[in-house]
Amino acid sequence: MRRAIYPGSFDPVTNGHLDIIQRGCKLFDEIIVAILVNPDKTPFFSVEERTNILTEVLKDIGKGECKVIVDSFEGLLVQYAAQRRAHAIVRGIRAISDYEYELQMALMNRRLEPSLETVFMMPAEAYSYVSSRLVKEVFQLGARIEGLVPSLVEERMRNKK
Ligand code: PNS
Repeated sequence: MRRAIYPGSFDPVTNGHLDIIQRGCKLFDEIIVAILVNPDKTPFFSVEERTNILTEVLKDIGKGECKVIVDSFEGLLVQYAAQRRAHAIVRGIRAISDYEYELQMALMNRRLEPSLETVFMMPAEAYSYVSSRLVKEVFQLGARIEGLVPSLVEERMRNKK
């Protein structure tokens, strides 16, 4: 039974995140999508809202035999992963620019917990420029975000305005 943690802010979840989850499902029996509770940041959606949105949108994607769970965590990712008895951390890498930060995190996490592997996965090219930060920015400036996020996310973002 191979279990992975897919950690992140998911504020909001994008189609790129869902693409990574689907790809991760080919490698793992269980993926825990773990939302970081970050008291230093003022998020667009609360952790509860993000949990609810993720749970809803995950119902609509093909996951094969893979079990996908939504959870949230505070503190060190490696501690949370050990507590959940996970074998790996999954992170999506879009461009070379992501790699530097991701490599630093992966190596720091390896130093903290050598038994935990980080697996980098590439999303479909169509999502290679999609980030939660840019989605929020263009949405708040009045642009359409159809195709970049699940329709439920767009709807919930419109309701928040
Ligand atoms: O979606 P994000 O914001 O890029 O995700 C970043 C995340 C949640 C993976 C990272 O900030 C994290 O793991 N935070 C938990 C605290 C921690 O373990 N920090 C040390 C990482 S080397």
